[in-house]
Amino acid sequence: MLAEKYADRIEKIFSKYPDKRSGIMDLLYLAQEEYGWLSEDTLREVAALCDVDPTQAHSIAGFYTMFSEKPKGTYWLQVCTDLPCALRGADQFYQELCAYLDVDDGGTTSDGLFTVEQVMCLAACDKAPMLQCNFHYYENLDMDIIKGLIEQWRAQAQQEAAE
Ligand code: FES
Repeated sequence: MLAEKYADRIEKIFSKYPDKRSGIMDLLYLAQEEYGWLSEDTLREVAALCDVDPTQAHSIAGFYTMFSEKPKGTYWLQVCTDLPCALRGADQFYQELCAYLDVDDGGTTSDGLFTVEQVMCLAACDKAPMLQCNFHYYENLDMDIIKGLIEQWRAQAQQEAAE
């Protein structure tokens, strides 16, 4: 439970705001960091901590693409395919990436390493195709570059699993 494990951190979060409900974004980040995604139980837990109705936690989690309400891979690849990026080839890049990883739109690879999904503008429109992986930006991509990154991430995951 977040309340027990992160009591000090939660208290520090709430101390920044005039009321508990204002800390809900921070708590959702903390919950996602802890559990990897935001389940119904987790949203209820966060809502209770913030003294809000669970539907409010649900609506915030559903609105922002940095929150996930379903399990995702170790590497969460969010490709911007919004119009400015689409004009720079993001749609084709996304299709080729899905094909390379053998996943459907929004899918996760069978080894659980990669989840790939489309998102709206990430404010790097002049550097498309671009994506964020676990909230780190990778810009001016092409398939050669992303294949190299995928191999790096696979190697990193294998190394971490062996430790
Ligand atoms: S439209 Fe893709 S980053 Fe802005």
